[in-house]
Order: sequence, then C-alpha cells, then structure tokens
Amino acid sequence: MRIWPRTLTGQLILVLLLALAISQIVTLFIYRFERARALRVVIGEECLGRAVSAFRLAEGVPPNQRKSVLKTIETPLTRYWLTHDEISSEEWQREARDHLLKPTSAAGSNNPTASMFARETMLNQLSTASWRELPGGTWLLQKPLHILDLAAWNGFGFKMQLNDGEYLNMIYAKPEYLMQSALTPGYYTALVITVLIFAGAALLIARRIVRPLRHLTKSAERLGRGHEVEILREEGPEDIRATISAFNRMQVRLNRFLTDRTRMLAAISHDLRTPITSLRLRTEFIADEEMRQKFNATLDEMQGMAEASLSFAKSESTAETTRVVDLDALLESICDDITELGGKVDLTSPGRLPYKCRSDSLRRALRNIIENAVRYGECARVTLHRHSDRIDITVEDDGPGIPAADRERVFEPFVRLESSRNRDTGGVGLGLSIARSIIRNHGGEITLSQGNKGLRVLIQLPPVCPNLA
Ligand SMILES: Nc1ncnc2c1ncn2[C@@H]1O[C@H](COP(=O)(O)OP(=O)(O)O)[C@@H](O)[C@H]1O
Ligand SMILES: [Mg+2]
Repeated sequence: MRIWPRTLTGQLILVLLLALAISQIVTLFIYRFERARALRVVIGEECLGRAVSAFRLAEGVPPNQRKSVLKTIETPLTRYWLTHDEISSEEWQREARDHLLKPTSAAGSNNPTASMFARETMLNQLSTASWRELPGGTWLLQKPLHILDLAAWNGFGFKMQLNDGEYLNMIYAKPEYLMQSALTPGYYTALVITVLIFAGAALLIARRIVRPLRHLTKSAERLGRGHEVEILREEGPEDIRATISAFNRMQVRLNRFLTDRTRMLAAISHDLRTPITSLRLRTEFIADEEMRQKFNATLDEMQGMAEASLSFAKSESTAETTRVVDLDALLESICDDITELGGKVDLTSPGRLPYKCRSDSLRRALRNIIENAVRYGECARVTLHRHSDRIDITVEDDGPGIPAADRERVFEPFVRLESSRNRDTGGVGLGLSIARSIIRNHGGEITLSQGNKGLRVLIQLPPVCPNLA
C-alpha cells in the first residue's frame, strides 16, 4: 500500500495534516502534564488558605461549638472534623473518605456529594503518601501544619493541632469528572473544523499551482511534437508565473530561431543558383570534351542539391497546421503512387488509424523512406502497427542494407553511400535527413537496422495523445 500520494495536492494535504497532528499531540502533552501540575499547585495553595481560615475560626470559638461552626463552612468538596489522637495516614484517609461521602448539612437533602463520589471508585485508592510538615509561621500560624498530598483523589488533607491539643482535620477532594479532560466534545469539534480548514487551504494552494502547471505540461508536450502552441496566460503564484513566462519566451525564441534558420537555408540555396549558372556558361570554353562533361555532371549535382535544399526550406517555412488524418489511408496512397511509377510495394495495416499530425510533412517523410526501399532494395514491405504506447511503421526491403557503421551517417544532409552514387538514382542525399527532421518534429524517432533480407527502417510515433485532441 502506498501512503505517500503522487500528486502535489495529495502531498500538500498530507503534510499539513501531519503537521497539525504533531502540533496537537504536543499541545495535549503540555496540557496533560504541565497544566495539570500548575493547576494542582494553585489548588493546593487555595486549600491551604481555607485550612488556615478554618483553624482561626476553630480557635476563636469555644470548644463545644467548634463542631457546629465548622459544619457551616463545609462545601461539597471540603469537610472538617475534630479528633483527639494522632492516627496513621491510612486510618486518616479512611476517616476522610467517610466524611466526604456523608452529605453536608449546608447543602440540604439534595446534596450532590455522596453521588458525586459514590460513582467514583477513586476514593477507594488509599495514598501511601505521608504527612508533610509546614513549619509554623509560614501561614501566620504559630503551630506547624501537616499536609497530605492525595494525588489519586485530586485532593489534599490538612491536620492542625489547636491550642487545647485537639486536632482540626480538613479534606479536600475533587471527583474525577470535575477534572476536565482535554478531550472534550468541544475539543473534537474544534479539531474537525481545524482539519477541514487545513485541508481546504491545502487544496486551494495546490489548485493555484497545479492548474497552471497542467497547462504548461500540455503546452510543452505539444511544442515538443511540433504543434503550434499559443502563448500561455501567466497565472498562479509568482514562481509559477516566472516559469510560464520563461516557457513563453523560450517558445518565441525557438520559433524565431527555426524561422531564421530555414530562411537562411532558403537564401543560400537560392543564391547558389546564380554562380552555378555562370559556371555552366563558362564550361562552354572548356576545350576538352570529356573534361567538360565531368564539369557539367558536378554542376548538375550541385544544382540538384541547391534545388532540394530550397524546396525543403520552402516547405518548412510554410508552417503546416496539424490535423487528424487516417494513417492507413495516408500510407496506402503513398504506396499506390509508387506502384504506379513501377515500384514493388506491399502494405500490411490493421485498418483505419486516425492520427493528429502535419500530414503533408509526414507524407513526405514516409514517401522518402519507401522510395529509398524501392530504389536501393528492389521492393518495400510496409507494415503499420498500433501499440498501446506508440505507433510503429516499418519499411523493409530486399536490398544490400546499410552497414552498421554508416547507419547514423546516412541521416546527415547530402550523405550518399558509395554504392548508390554509382546507381545514378538522381537523389542528392537529403531524403533521410528530411524524414528524420519531420518524424522527430512529431515527437517520434526513426531507426535503421538489419532486416530479414535488406534494410529495416523503424518509425516510432507517439500515440494519439488525448492532451492534444
Ligand atoms: N533502403 C536502403 N537500402 C540501402 N541503402 C539505403 C537505403 N535507404 C537509403 N540508403 C542509403 O542512404 C543514403 C541516403 O539516403 P537519402 O538520404 O534518402 O538520400 P538519397 O536517396 O537522395 O541518396 C542513400 O544514398 C543510400 O546510400
Ligand atoms: Mg532517398
């Protein structure tokens, strides 16, 4: 199972929620330990104050009225009683519990105390703590005051000896449910709301980034395949805007660069015609007949190269728009043309295959390759095959093939292998370079290899991409 999400939105939400969870755990930890500790200190001081007041009160009234006076200052959480002897801490706690479970006279019959503690088994846990002595003078008492820390009861016990030797005892204990836990329904509600707000915020941020990024991806993909791409709107956060703007600038520069190159190629091949023509006129003055013919053959070759370059440059400069064509029909019409001119071509195709491309360019590329097979390899076996992730077109022939060492070189402009130079086929060596340029422009690739008999040319095109539809 993968936990780490793939998308930016998913990752952002997960990271924010993790951060939230960690901060909540830390907060609860602080609440549980630090705040509870602080509260206990405060409550302890408060109880101490009450114990001291009760002591003064008990001292101030005659011994026979003490019990009834002390009764009047009891609260549901506080009890006072008098004893004569020193008793053990455990004994004292049992007595304290009995007093706590007895209703106070002050609160009348619907006294909540008994039920408050009856529900709680906490009072059954006796503390092993022993009495701590607070020396006299600290709280304006002349006599020492004894404190019992009853953490299990959330309370404190106090013991003070009155002037006549009697002990005044006080117990304070807080039922557990009054010790508000941090994990209240209110807390959960707040947590759910916070989670929703965080997730919403993450979604909002991610959307602002993802939306323009998606457009950028689509445009880059299209640009790479030679489709015309419009200038993207700069949207989203500053960083993303900068990226989009850089992409737009790159696209403009790339287009300008390409047009400049093609224009230059066209100008050179065009301007070469004049010197070639003037050279041709001058061959008339060559006396040696054989020499003149050789000169003319070379000039023919030069002229052929210039014409081919010019026609390539011209076709490149008229930016052809992309449209959907049937690849099967396209191949069939190329094969028919070549058959009519006397070539031997055989096409195997699975049938209709609509494909978005620059159809005129693609036709030119495919025609160059099939013509090569017929010219140099006697026949062409063309197959069209559709894979899930690409489209394959293979062209095989029965010729001599191309030695592995020359398979990259033949793609260079004006490169013709020695064997074909003798053949007088009329080519100038631009066919494969043009074909590769066009196929790469469609985001595809062309590779040469040894086939069953002759050369095998494999043209791989990217599949019909829904992004480009
Ligand atoms: N099917 C093939 N079999 C053998 N050699 C080939 C084949 N296709 C191309 N070649 C070699 O590659 C060279 C370059 O091909 P290309 O660029 O089409 O130029 P051109 O056909 O004008 O000579 C050809 O001159 C030829 O020597
Ligand atoms: Mg050729």
